Amino acid sequence: MSQAAQAFVTLATNDLYAKGALVLGTSLRDHKTTRNLVILITPQVSNNMRCALERIFDEVLLVDVLDSKDSAHLAMIKRPELGVTFTKLHCWALTQYSKCIFMDADTLVLCNIDELFEREELSAAPDPGWPDCFNTGVFVYRPSVETYHELLRSSTENGSFDGGDQGLLNSFFSSWPTADINKHLPFIYNLSSVAIYSYLPAFKQYGADAKVVHFLGNIKPWNCSYDTKTKCVTRTVHDSAPVVHSEFVSMWWDIYSTSILPMLMEHGISKSISPVKQEEEKLSEAVSQLSVSPPVPTAPMISSEERRRNWEQGQADFMGVDSFQNIQKKLDTYLN
Ligand code: UDP
Ligand code: GLC
Ligand code: MN
Repeated sequence: MSQAAQAFVTLATNDLYAKGALVLGTSLRDHKTTRNLVILITPQVSNNMRCALERIFDEVLLVDVLDSKDSAHLAMIKRPELGVTFTKLHCWALTQYSKCIFMDADTLVLCNIDELFEREELSAAPDPGWPDCFNTGVFVYRPSVETYHELLRSSTENGSFDGGDQGLLNSFFSSWPTADINKHLPFIYNLSSVAIYSYLPAFKQYGADAKVVHFLGNIKPWNCSYDTKTKCVTRTVHDSAPVVHSEFVSMWWDIYSTSILPMLMEHGISKSISPVKQEEEKLSEAVSQLSVSPPVPTAPMISSEERRRNWEQGQADFMGVDSFQNIQKKLDTYLN
């Protein structure tokens, strides 16, 4: 099979996720992939951003937005914005390729992973929240018009148990947990940042072998703030608390600030170091012009049951009660 007929595929429905995709694409190129790089974009991605994407990706393909609009299930994962991840399904329509690896725009490649093309559809790593489900941040698949249509039919007839693509794809490829162990990718091909906290000793033991990092959850590297001199990452421009275990976020920012930002500035997309800074600067300017002071945001009090539920859904409060220091304290108590 010709290598040109295989591709890494990602998706961005807006300019923020497109920044993630640019870093992902650059990391694949830096690690000398021999395969094509393809990105699916939707009309909301700006024209300037499309030009920037064309410099990294072999194909920038415009597709229409598919949205589950399933607010009830999305509320359960506290990610109302993820209905549009149904747009991922278009990746099965790329029949100019015989085999592809789909990667979320919030993933980062740490070494060459071309060996994944030896796997078959549907290969993926376990989801850290429910390991009998696969995580759809990284998966191997075969484009096919037939599968594409079946998936679209399933999306309208059955919907998705999480309101996003992951629920739908797990129901569709339902034999994944039991049928063929070769379709289970090692976790190091989709190391989600939540796993660092949920099983710290394993991360200390195996983390150095990671091949792909996945910034799963609602804190994305592009929403963090980064100091190029100290290489220090903080949660946002307004929240100067350092991000705990920020090594991978720093790596993301290293690529973003050295390779991507200069290019975006050339395309007139970004002026300042942080992609969110400009928006937040505008906001705080507007707020400072108001005569009434804005309320100081405080962390809402939550019950331990709700906290546990949040934790299990990957929504841990890493900067507060679930901070690394607090977890370490708890472990120490058990060990002593
Ligand atoms: N995505 C997108 N626009 C959105 C939300 C998601 O383009 O508004 C795409 C993007 O490729 C992203 C993927 O869908 O990486 C899945 O969403 P996300 O990574 O935020 O989900 P998580 O992995 O955090 O559950
Ligand atoms: C998951 C996956 C992501 C998917 C989302 C919605 O957490 O990481 O790729 O889009 O769920 O199903
Ligand atoms: Mn993701």
